[in-house]
Amino acid sequence: MPVDLGKPLSWKNATGDADTMLQNLQANILKGHVREHLHILLVQFGKGPAGAAEARTFLAGLVPLMKSAKEHLQEVEGFKRNGSSGVPDTPYVGVGLTKAGYDRLGLSDRAPSDEAFERGMRDDGTRSMLKDPDIAQWEAGYREEIHAVVLVGDAEPRPAGAGLKKVEELLTGSLRVLGKEVGRGMRNANGDGIEHFGYVDGRSQPLFLTEDVEDERRGTDGVSVWDPAEALARILVADPAAPDPATDFGSYFVLRKLEQNVRAFRKAEEELADALKLDNDDRERAGAMLVGRFKDGTPLTLQATPGAHSPVMNDFTYASDGAADKCPFQAHIRKTNPRGSGGFESPEEERRHLMARRGQTYGERADGPGGDLPEGGVGLLFMAFNSDLVDQFEFTQRNWANSTGFPDSGSEPAPGLDPVIGQGSRPPATWPRVWGQEEGQEVTSPAQTVTMKGGEYFFMPSLAFLRSL
Ligand code: HEM
Repeated sequence: MPVDLGKPLSWKNATGDADTMLQNLQANILKGHVREHLHILLVQFGKGPAGAAEARTFLAGLVPLMKSAKEHLQEVEGFKRNGSSGVPDTPYVGVGLTKAGYDRLGLSDRAPSDEAFERGMRDDGTRSMLKDPDIAQWEAGYREEIHAVVLVGDAEPRPAGAGLKKVEELLTGSLRVLGKEVGRGMRNANGDGIEHFGYVDGRSQPLFLTEDVEDERRGTDGVSVWDPAEALARILVADPAAPDPATDFGSYFVLRKLEQNVRAFRKAEEELADALKLDNDDRERAGAMLVGRFKDGTPLTLQATPGAHSPVMNDFTYASDGAADKCPFQAHIRKTNPRGSGGFESPEEERRHLMARRGQTYGERADGPGGDLPEGGVGLLFMAFNSDLVDQFEFTQRNWANSTGFPDSGSEPAPGLDPVIGQGSRPPATWPRVWGQEEGQEVTSPAQTVTMKGGEYFFMPSLAFLRSL
């Protein structure tokens, strides 16, 4: 039986091709792998036949350090059953290749063929379309031609460091490390993962495994209003360079280093609260309007105050907030997942743009989130898996976040840019002064506080491909 890409997969019941697929797929794609401590290496291969041979040896040498999706899922299951003793001390090691990387390997004709992947993120056309900064303003590691990315992640610093060392030992000869990133998870008092502006992040995800959907149904606020189940076709791509594309799959991987100016974001929250004359406890609603959730993750469309965080809710749409007088149209999470209310496509078509986010925060802070308010040096290593880069990541950034006219609000002024990740000029927008009352007030838009410092598109190939090198 061929792998059925048209629906989510039950990994526990997978047999035949689906089971082989799980054994040949890298971990962290279908389900996020723990990566509180994360190392990222940007690698360049040497030129000519010698460079290609060294690159092949390097990639094949990574395989013994890597685990398959199936091994990872079994590990997580063991952890659930036996507690921490059930977790083998092995980090996640993942590898992705760029189009230029396939070219250097001498595999141009077997490289994946997504249009955005072929262009790359450094391409002038890509940058102007996404309104990304000039490459001269990117960090050094991203300015040159990258051929591979290696990710090493673990819950603890020691195994992550040991895994990194093993990878670095393989980087010999003409292989060059162009750049290194260190990601470090941050959590709030409730134990939920947060980003540098202080908000719970990583909560809303498309789920590709029926077991994960079931966990969501039983262990959270449920799945009756917003169904997170997604078809495998939204994340898996047959690996064209693998021995058997019927069982060997990979996924396109987006990496973007997004620097966060925490001080400026805090100022934007205060200025919005002042402009709308929000009082006392209601002032934190200003930040929630920028993000679409309060800091503790409570969705703003559901309630006017925080507190719905045990667990953080995700079973909602904007159906009862059509005028956006609870959660503004332009709030980050409403822009990046309008949950059927975007107005330009059917709810089913709209879902096609969602992607699996696997980001991690970077940068040290003196006294924790909200304390020292850094203006730079901290941010998000945005990472996401896609089966179609043009229709998922690029569509979201370009047609939604950067587009003033999305969603289709039917009113003036248009919603405006996504205040968190929107790039481009920022006209004034309307914000609800009183939660749930149609009393919007036009306010000068908050300044841009997230700056793209570099990035690239990769394909995370099947283990079967890596073994075949
Ligand atoms: C959700 C922050 C970049 C797409 C969220 C949430 C936060 C957040 C706090 C709410 C938690 C959740 O629902 O999981 C940030 C910050 C960013 C950033 C601070 C940059 C520094 C991006 C980028 C994209 C993106 C570049 C895509 C182009 C999404 C999506 C969701 C989300 C799709 C889930 C929305 C939903 O399903 O309701 N982000 N984000 N984010 N973000 Fe971002």
